[in-house]
Amino acid sequence: MSEHDTKLRLGVNIDHVATVRNARGGHVPDPVRAAMLAAKAGADGITAHLREDRRHIRDADIDALMQALEIPLNFEMAATEEMQAIALRHRPHAVCIVPERREERTTEGGLEVAGDKARLTDFIAPLAEAGARVSLFIAADPTQIVAASQVGAAVVEIHTGAYCDAHMEGRFEDRDLELARIQSAAEQAHGLGLEVHAGHGLAFDTVGPIAAIPEMRELNIGHFLIGESIFIGLDAAIGHMRRLMDAAR
Ligand code: PXP
Repeated sequence: MSEHDTKLRLGVNIDHVATVRNARGGHVPDPVRAAMLAAKAGADGITAHLREDRRHIRDADIDALMQALEIPLNFEMAATEEMQAIALRHRPHAVCIVPERREERTTEGGLEVAGDKARLTDFIAPLAEAGARVSLFIAADPTQIVAASQVGAAVVEIHTGAYCDAHMEGRFEDRDLELARIQSAAEQAHGLGLEVHAGHGLAFDTVGPIAAIPEMRELNIGHFLIGESIFIGLDAAIGHMRRLMDAAR
């Protein structure tokens, strides 16, 4: 395999730059400026989640990102008709379908694919025909992975939230169990012909073992990087994350 096939890409999620902007209701900090800086600092792609309630990224941000970005945009969205129409209008490089519940603070769990196969197959087809690489954000659960391989998705993104939470809370046995689940999910998904991504909650302390998974091709990281940029700057935070990912390969 060439380096292109095996390189681990870093997608930087800029949602929480918009969270800070929206806290004041004005125009700064600008998520597009953060995206341009992230690209310079070594991000391979930018991820932005347009939520139904527009709590962080807004429609105008997606318009501006599509205009300004020279690296791929991974457009995160719920499987709704409204979002499908927006994705078809913009034709981003990738679309990541996530579950969304209004009352949640962040995307808490993985998508229910196994119980919703017919609807997801119909939902994904036009997006794939429009040229988007469609990814499903799922738990490290063998049933969901088999289902993901049957609905027309090219990619699965494995939810690393439980692994990261266990680490942060010092539950190291649970953390290692979660890591083993993610490792075996990555192997299974790759064996079924799916490209494997991962993300949610990753930080300097937790990225190494996930980056070391041989089948892994992309990590999407947001909240920690935006938070860390308060202390060391976005450029340095992304640069350090990139080095930790490379060192783990
Ligand atoms: N991947 C997906 C599919 C997500 O929904 C999120 C959170 O929006 C992330 C990655 C990034 O998670 P975090 O902001 O915790 O790094």
